[in-house]
Amino acid sequence: MDTWESLRTECLACRGCSLAEHRNHVVFGDGAEDAEILLIGEGPGQHEDEQGKPFVGRAGKLLDDMLEMVNLNRSKVYIANIVKCRPPQNRDPLNVEQDACIDWLRRQTALLRPKIIVCLGRIAAKSIIKNDFRITQEHGQWFERDGIQMTAIFHPAALLRDVQKRPATFEDLKAIQVKARELCQHTEI
Ligand code: URA
Repeated sequence: MDTWESLRTECLACRGCSLAEHRNHVVFGDGAEDAEILLIGEGPGQHEDEQGKPFVGRAGKLLDDMLEMVNLNRSKVYIANIVKCRPPQNRDPLNVEQDACIDWLRRQTALLRPKIIVCLGRIAAKSIIKNDFRITQEHGQWFERDGIQMTAIFHPAALLRDVQKRPATFEDLKAIQVKARELCQHTEI
C-alpha cells in the first residue's frame, strides 16, 4: 500500500510519457491528505509547471474564489489533475498521455478515499465519469461509482473566457455544498 510520501516521491520521478521531457515540475497535487472532496482538473499550465502546484494561475485564482463562495478552501479539499506534467502550448492532453498518467490519480484517490469528486471541465469529466460526457448538458448532474458521488462543473478557464457560464456554475457549486453537508463528516461547509 502506498503512503502519500512514497507515492509523491515515485511520481516526481515519473518518465512514463514524453511530457516528462520538457517539464520544470511534476504537479503532484495540493490540499488536505484527508480531504473528503477531491477536485480534478485537466493538466498544469505554465504557472503550475513553474511552481509545481495545481491551479496557481488566473484560472486558479478564480477557482479559489469559487471555493470561497461555498465556504471551501484548499485546506478543506484536495486538488489534482488528469495529467501531472504540462502539455506543450497548453493543448489538451493526448489519450496516450492520460493513459500513462491516470494510475497516479487512481493511487491518490485510493489514499484519500473521498466522498465527493468534482471534475473541473470536459477532459476530467470524460476521463473520470464517462467517455461521452457532454459538459454543456451534463454539468451539475450526479453520478455514483464505488460509493463515491461524482459531478462535473465548467473549468475555471472556461468561466474566464465566457462569463455567461458563471450563473450555472454557481448553482452547481451550491448543489455541491448541499451534497457535502449531507455526506462529509469532518468538512465544515
Ligand atoms: N488548469 C488545470 O486544469 N489544472 C491546473 O492545475 C491549472 C490549470
